[in-house]
Amino acid sequence: MKILFIGDVVGSPGREMVKEYLPRLKEKYKPNMTIINGENAASGKGITEKIYKQFLEWGAQVITMGNHTWDKKEIFEFIEDAKYMIRPANFPENNPGKGIVFINVNGTEVAVINLQGRTFLLPNEDPFIVADQLIEQAKKRTNIIFIDFHAEATSEKQAMGWYVDGRVSAVVGTHTHTQTADERILSNGTAYITDAGMTGPYDAILGVKKEAVLKRFQTNLPVRFEIDENGRAQLNGIIATIDNKTGRAVDIKRILINEDHPFL
Ligand SMILES: [Fe+2]
Ligand SMILES: [Fe+2]
Repeated sequence: MKILFIGDVVGSPGREMVKEYLPRLKEKYKPNMTIINGENAASGKGITEKIYKQFLEWGAQVITMGNHTWDKKEIFEFIEDAKYMIRPANFPENNPGKGIVFINVNGTEVAVINLQGRTFLLPNEDPFIVADQLIEQAKKRTNIIFIDFHAEATSEKQAMGWYVDGRVSAVVGTHTHTQTADERILSNGTAYITDAGMTGPYDAILGVKKEAVLKRFQTNLPVRFEIDENGRAQLNGIIATIDNKTGRAVDIKRILINEDHPFL
């Protein structure tokens, strides 16, 4: 089982990159399924139903989210019907939506779980306890379990990786919008990377126009964060190869496409 994961898609530059490169990535790596983190897909803040459907049309099977899940009001109208969208499972219990989904890939079941860290983010339920519960639930159906752990602190992400090592196929970090070069297979067979990176504006600060971010740092005054729509764009992600029987990862590769790292 090969799973392609595309890191936080930011605004229209990110969506354009997915549209252009997803078919080419599929041709090159032949993944059996594709997961996209879409928490910033609508102008950097949340996701709309139209974009969610577009991602599925373009060939993704699951859309994961994060701390920006509720940014677009319309999410409350469609999340319950969005079968293939998951938001962090450790959000408060009364929240709409779900944090785990099972996908049937040519007769093989894959569980995808979304969790969020608590360091420098809202104090949600304990992601480690919720991971235990969802892994137990998933294991009744499949050994192939993929976790998008949306978190800020590298240490919290590493902690999650080691905590579930050998119990899940992959722990892929999202949220920081900067790809880390620490992809590896942990000692009991879980593929791990601290952050898959971001798909969107390349000449910006985490996807946001650099002038605005700079002004915030220099003045502490409120500024409007806008997506850099016109500059160059990038695509970040990973591809993990998993043994179908054991659910253990055999390989994880980073994907980095930008003008300094052209797609070949
Ligand atoms: Fe993000
Ligand atoms: Fe985030």
